Amino acid sequence: MRTPSNTDSILPVGTDRKPLAAEVFGLPAVGRKQPPEICFPRRRIVRSMTGTDRPRRLRRTPALRRLVAETTLEPRHLVLPMFVADGLDEPREIGSMPGVHQHSMDSLRKAAVEAVDAGVGGLMLFGVPLPEDKDPAGSQASDPDGILNRGLRALASEVGDATVVMADTCLDEFTDHGHCGVLGPDGQVDNDATLHRYVDMAIAQAEAGADLLGTSGMMDGQVGAIRRGLDAVGRTDTGILAYAAKYASAFYGPFREAVSSSLEGDRRTYQQDPANRRESRRELDLDLAEGADIVMVKPAMAYLDILREVADRATVPVAAYQISGEYAMITAAAERGWIDRDAAVLESLTSIRRAGADIVLTYWATEAARRLS
Ligand code: PBG
Repeated sequence: MRTPSNTDSILPVGTDRKPLAAEVFGLPAVGRKQPPEICFPRRRIVRSMTGTDRPRRLRRTPALRRLVAETTLEPRHLVLPMFVADGLDEPREIGSMPGVHQHSMDSLRKAAVEAVDAGVGGLMLFGVPLPEDKDPAGSQASDPDGILNRGLRALASEVGDATVVMADTCLDEFTDHGHCGVLGPDGQVDNDATLHRYVDMAIAQAEAGADLLGTSGMMDGQVGAIRRGLDAVGRTDTGILAYAAKYASAFYGPFREAVSSSLEGDRRTYQQDPANRRESRRELDLDLAEGADIVMVKPAMAYLDILREVADRATVPVAAYQISGEYAMITAAAERGWIDRDAAVLESLTSIRRAGADIVLTYWATEAARRLS
C-alpha cells in the first residue's frame, strides 16, 4: 500500500496515480492531455499567479534598470595589485595571468600613473627579489634597499596623494623556503619569531611611504604586533589592511608564478580551511580587537558567503581580493570564446561588491576603472 501524503487530496478519491507537479502547485500542466478533474479555466489561473506583482516592470528599459540598481561599482572601489621584480629592464608578462606583468621600476611607475589616471582607489605592491637574495629570514623584506621598499618609494614619489599606496606585509616572497614566516628548529613556521620580522618589515614599509600595510601572513597576533611596533616609532598614521579571513586556496596558483614563489608544500598550518565559516568570525573579531583599520576576505568569489558575514559584522571598511586564479579562470575561458570577457569581468566585480565589499582588489582595476568612468 502506498503511504498517504499531503498531496493526495489534490486528486479525486480513488484516483490511482501520483499527482503531476503542476497539479500539486496549482499550475496548468503543459503539453499533456488533462484529466477532466483538473481542467481549470486557464485565464483565471494565470491572473491569480501574477496578481498585481510584476517585477519585470522595473527591468523593462536600461533607464529603469539603472534607476533601481542596488549595487554600484566605481573606480574608487578598485585597488590594483602590482608586482615589482628586481633586476628587470623590461616588464615580464606572467604566463598564467595574461595581461599582468612583473614590473621593472620604470614600468611600475608608468602603470601606476595609468591606474591613477583611471581613478583607482589604491595600489597594492608585491616585491619579487632576485633568487639569490632570498634567505631563511626573508631579510630583503625589511631592508630599505629591498625590492619592495624601493618599489614603494617609487610609487609614493610618483603618485603622491593621488591614490592610496599599500604594501604586502608578508615574508613569503623573500624567504628561500617560500613560507609566510620564519621556520623553527622543527621546520615548522614559528609564529612568534615571525611577528618580530613582520614588525621590522612594517616599519621599513611605513618609512618607504606606504599608507596601508596588507598583513597577509595569517600569523596569530600579527595585527596587534604591527600596530604596537608602528606606534612605538611614531608611525601612528600608517594603517593596517588586515587579511582577516584568508583561506588556503588552490586558486592562488597563478600568484605563485607571479612572485616566483619558492614554496614547496602548502600553507595549511596558517591559512584557513575552506570548510570553515565560524573561524572567520573569530579571525575578524581578533583583527578588530588588535586594531585593524580595514579587514579583508580572500579569495573573493568562492568565499562570498564569508564576505557577506564579515561585512555584516565588521565595524570598519571591508575589502575582498579577487585573486590570481579568479583572474586566470575568466581570462582563459574568454580566450577560448566560452564566455564574454568584458561582461564577466564586471559581473564578477559587481558580485563581490554586492556580497559586501567596500573595496575590491582586482588585477582588472585599471581596465575596469576606465570602463566605469
Ligand atoms: C601571500 C599572498 C598570496 C596572495 C597574496 N599574498 C598567496 C599565497 O598564500 O601564496 C595571493 C594573491 C593572488 O592569488 O592573487 N603573502
